[in-house]
Amino acid sequence: MDDLLVKINNFKTEIKDFVAQNSDDAEAFRIKYLGTKGLVKDVMGEMKNVAVDKKREFGQVMNEFKLFAEARYEELKAATSTATSAAIDEADLSLPADTLPLGSRHPISLVRNRIVAIFQRLGFAVAEGPEIEDDWHNFTALNLPANHPARDMQDTFYINQNPDWLLRTHTSSVQVREMQKGKLPIRIICPGRVYRNETISARAHCFFHQVEGLYIAENVSFADLKQTLYFFVQEMFGKEVKVRFRPSYFPFTEPSAEMDISCLICGGTGCNVCKHTGWVEILGCGMAHPNLLENCGIDSNKYTGFAFGMGVERITMLKYQIKDLRLFSENDVRFLKQFTSAV
Ligand code: DAH
Repeated sequence: MDDLLVKINNFKTEIKDFVAQNSDDAEAFRIKYLGTKGLVKDVMGEMKNVAVDKKREFGQVMNEFKLFAEARYEELKAATSTATSAAIDEADLSLPADTLPLGSRHPISLVRNRIVAIFQRLGFAVAEGPEIEDDWHNFTALNLPANHPARDMQDTFYINQNPDWLLRTHTSSVQVREMQKGKLPIRIICPGRVYRNETISARAHCFFHQVEGLYIAENVSFADLKQTLYFFVQEMFGKEVKVRFRPSYFPFTEPSAEMDISCLICGGTGCNVCKHTGWVEILGCGMAHPNLLENCGIDSNKYTGFAFGMGVERITMLKYQIKDLRLFSENDVRFLKQFTSAV
């Protein structure tokens, strides 16, 4: 029994002399002496070896030992927490805080938001649709003939599970979905991601972003289309920018056109960006083809409409003079953080 008393006395000396510099040390003390596997528990466990007639006396000693360790722990804890608040007292609280690194919007998002905001001011509402489409919404309804090259496996990503499913190649499929709802007039823009089976290069990627627009009502004319797009260009690129329309072909519009703007770099005198023509192409457009309207259940004798579609990457590259499309998806922060302000 004497051994046990000696042991307890040694521990008490150790406890009395224990030094804690900070709250971590105080916690280490608690674990060592008062934890579930701590020394106090250990010593208490010796009780079973104490002779019956001594149990009462030893019980008291052990209890007192436990209280001693607990009191010391409270002392250490209090002392180290004052140390922490003393450190706070010494700190200069008027110093500016460390700045939080701020993220920035992706340039594609900035430009898309800008495009959307311009058309919203003209009364266009945003419409969205699925990125996985069926053949009908992406091609057939849009008057694309069965042998159109865009339907080829070389150009479009099909989904193995179902030969009718594909990744939409344009957001024109959203126009179809809106027309099918049967609520007229329609005045929508469809921003979204689209996919094409292209080899990745500085000028092409297997996915990119579009904003397409559609306006269907009675008496909508090509003049409305021109004025709407002219307004957009002036808002997006500035009042001095000129536009021109060139005849083109899209299966879902008739007549169809491509719209160019005067080159932003050289102002129209000719440079590398505009391939010395003074003009750069920015979108496709036209009057909604009667077949498209009828496919979607709209009376083409009563209603007319215009549609247009542009690539957001293209507009962004022109706006910021970015030469390589791959930069948009490489996620290099040094590139992305340059676009903190709205355009
Ligand atoms: N869907 C066309 C494309 O992806 C772009 C386009 C052209 C959309 C003319 C239109 C349009 O709505 O009228 O190349």
